[in-house]
Amino acid sequence: MSLTTGLLLCLAVCVRTALGHGGNSSFANPILPGFHPDPSCIFVPEWDDTFFCASSSFNAFPGIPIHASKDLQNWKLTGHVLNRREQLPRLAETNRSTSGIWAPTLRFNNNTFWLVTTLVDDDRPQADFSRWDNIIFKGKDPYNQASWSNAIHFSFTGYDTEPFWDVDGKAYITGAHAWQVGPYIQQAEANLDTGELGEWQIIWNGTGGMAPEGPHIYHKDGWYYILAAEGGTGLDHMVTMARSKNLTGPYVSNPSNPVLTNANTTNLFQTVGHADLFQDKSGSWWGVALSTRSGPNYINYPMGRETVMTAVSWPKGEWPTFSPINGESNGWAMPHAAKDIRGIGPFITEGDDVAFTANTTLPAHFTHWRYPHPSSFTISPPEKPNTLRLTPSFLNLTALNGNYAGPQHGPDGQTFVGRRQQDTLFTFSVDLSFAPIALDEEAGVTAFLTQNHHLDLGIVLLPASASTATFPGTNATAEGADAPAALIPQVRFRGASYVPVPAPVIAPLPRAWRAGPLTLEIKAANGTHYSFSVGPAGRRSEMRTVLVASNDAVSWGFTGTILGVYATTNGGKGSAPGYFSKWRYTPQGQFRN
Ligand SMILES: *[C@@H]1O[C@H](CO)[C@@H](O)[C@H](O)[C@H]1NC(C)=O
Ligand SMILES: *[C@@H]1O[C@H](CO)[C@@H](O)[C@H](O)[C@H]1NC(C)=O
Ligand SMILES: *[C@@H]1O[C@H](CO)[C@@H](O)[C@H](O)[C@H]1NC(C)=O
Ligand SMILES: *[C@@H]1O[C@H](CO)[C@@H](O)[C@H](O)[C@H]1NC(C)=O
Ligand SMILES: *[C@@H]1O[C@H](CO)[C@@H](O)[C@H](O)[C@H]1NC(C)=O
Ligand SMILES: *[C@@H]1O[C@H](CO)[C@@H](O)[C@H](O)[C@H]1NC(C)=O
Ligand SMILES: *[C@@H]1O[C@H](CO)[C@@H](O)[C@H](O)[C@H]1NC(C)=O
Ligand SMILES: *[C@@H]1O[C@H](CO)[C@@H](O)[C@H](O)[C@H]1NC(C)=O
Ligand SMILES: *[C@@H]1O[C@H](CO)[C@@H](O)[C@H](O)[C@H]1NC(C)=O
Ligand SMILES: *[C@@H]1O[C@H](CO)[C@@H](O)[C@H](O)[C@H]1NC(C)=O
Repeated sequence: MSLTTGLLLCLAVCVRTALGHGGNSSFANPILPGFHPDPSCIFVPEWDDTFFCASSSFNAFPGIPIHASKDLQNWKLTGHVLNRREQLPRLAETNRSTSGIWAPTLRFNNNTFWLVTTLVDDDRPQADFSRWDNIIFKGKDPYNQASWSNAIHFSFTGYDTEPFWDVDGKAYITGAHAWQVGPYIQQAEANLDTGELGEWQIIWNGTGGMAPEGPHIYHKDGWYYILAAEGGTGLDHMVTMARSKNLTGPYVSNPSNPVLTNANTTNLFQTVGHADLFQDKSGSWWGVALSTRSGPNYINYPMGRETVMTAVSWPKGEWPTFSPINGESNGWAMPHAAKDIRGIGPFITEGDDVAFTANTTLPAHFTHWRYPHPSSFTISPPEKPNTLRLTPSFLNLTALNGNYAGPQHGPDGQTFVGRRQQDTLFTFSVDLSFAPIALDEEAGVTAFLTQNHHLDLGIVLLPASASTATFPGTNATAEGADAPAALIPQVRFRGASYVPVPAPVIAPLPRAWRAGPLTLEIKAANGTHYSFSVGPAGRRSEMRTVLVASNDAVSWGFTGTILGVYATTNGGKGSAPGYFSKWRYTPQGQFRN
């Protein structure tokens, strides 16, 4: 080490120490566990030195969650960009589970928060790209979700769009061109207030990996950098970069591409890609990306694509270097721990203990699938205070053929509400009072990934002859037989997935429990399986596990598992509500390596 570099190093270290940061920090990934893919993060000095991150929400509503932190460690949900149906009515009609909101980019410019994204109708292989709706939301106050505008639409045959402002103040949109036509990355000058665009230009084709997408532009030291994702969002996912002296190109690829990937490693954290970069107050660079905790086997990853973070070293005029993604990480000194964040949601590591008391609302992190019918969700109704009353929907969680298939099949969408699975190990339980009287009426709990992937434990009114099993631990002789045609409440486990799921289990509810209430529970005691249990409310020792099922059924695609409750008539004529109470989600462990 020369004297000069030694001095420079000391300067860097000494400045940091002087700022009170001390040495490097260690931190844990994921920073936003559970279904929080395609992260886009910014640091906003104008808002009290706060970091804000947006993530993709697909068909979930409210959509596009924003999490905030002052220390990069304690992240709190401040609200959702997409929080009112009028902002984007067509989310109600998307078919396919992979449709909905893809890859938002969050930026702050001219005292305004900008969120550019795409409402996708992912009807592959015959996708009609003319229906892919590229949109801009703008908002003035990240703590007041009502401040987000309705969608401003612009025309682009592609997705993963983002705003960028050049030094002359002109605004641009960069996006990934649809794969059937491209693939390449395009850019056009844009009026972000109106959605009017200049002409689209191809600015980079990536390095040859599948689907160059998720482009972000940064201007630094006289260079324009494009950061992109390539390889698809599976095991080959990677982050690549190119740069040019001119915003419009030509862009030259980084000879060290990919700059970040966990492909071909044995790391628990796989599919690392779709990154974004930001700088903290002391000038240190950080990268965020999505990753699945699947290991290279890529079989059990029910939490889907989560947000991870890493330190980035980006010397003047040079390419940035990303530290690899790991569960236990080390990087630049972080801002001092601080939890004074406003916002309507919990910190990301918190569990739930929700009593549905009068005059409360559903917690901000609770999620529906597409727009809910508000009257199907009533907190503390007069006939049963301190419960959440669910009015059943015509559609069940599978809906018709796994597609939502439009409002003609029932105006009330799906009666479902849940919260993300955010911990490898957890227990989720609720109490249920339910008095079904019509055939096929059902209420229960679910580990729900998409309408094509879910594992449900419900109470359903079925003929006694429909039973496939006796209830675990009961004595059928002592119970006495129900007449085969009698409609009785049965416990039903039912799953849907693209991989084989256990056959349905239908077992008569023990007579002594039929008057309810019951406790229903989903528990992950390890990283590969869930147990589904039921028992009389308040008598834990009598709980019985109906089935243990692999979580591979809900390890697929773009979203992550949501644990929740539902009520449905399964297309029948019923109307009996389910009353849910004592909602508990208890985090019990996080696998990080
Ligand atoms: C910044 O915002 C103000 C009002 O919100 C607007 O009048 C002005 O034109 C904007 N400036 C630019 C450069 O867009
Ligand atoms: C990208 O590929 C297209 C054809 O797919 C080609 O026309 C274009 O010149 C390429 N652009 C760059 C910047 O390499
Ligand atoms: C940058 O691109 C513009 C538009 O294509 C062109 O007019 C200009 O000459 C380019 N500048 C440089 C430095 O390449
Ligand atoms: C992973 O390994 C395969 C086979 O050697 C190779 O083709 C691929 O480029 C590698 N992927 C990355 C991102 O390094
Ligand atoms: C501190 O973290 C940065 C970013 O990861 C790294 O480049 C540097 O080597 C680390 N320093 C020490 C002393 O570990
Ligand atoms: C709920 O709000 C109503 C109207 O403001 C009020 O009359 C009632 O007492 C409140 N109930 C509870 C339990 O706080
Ligand atoms: C209910 O679920 C079943 C099985 O998943 C499905 O075949 C059926 O179409 C669904 N019915 C309704 C009305 O959603
Ligand atoms: C969804 O699919 C149904 C049935 O195929 C179709 O009638 C409907 O138009 C589709 N909706 C959209 C928005 O594509
Ligand atoms: C089941 O109940 C019947 C009737 O009460 C009794 O005769 C029988 O021994 C019980 N069987 C078991 C395995 O407990
Ligand atoms: C998780 O638990 C289930 C049920 O007890 C068991 O079958 C499975 O092998 C366990 N998985 C691991 C990785 O231990």
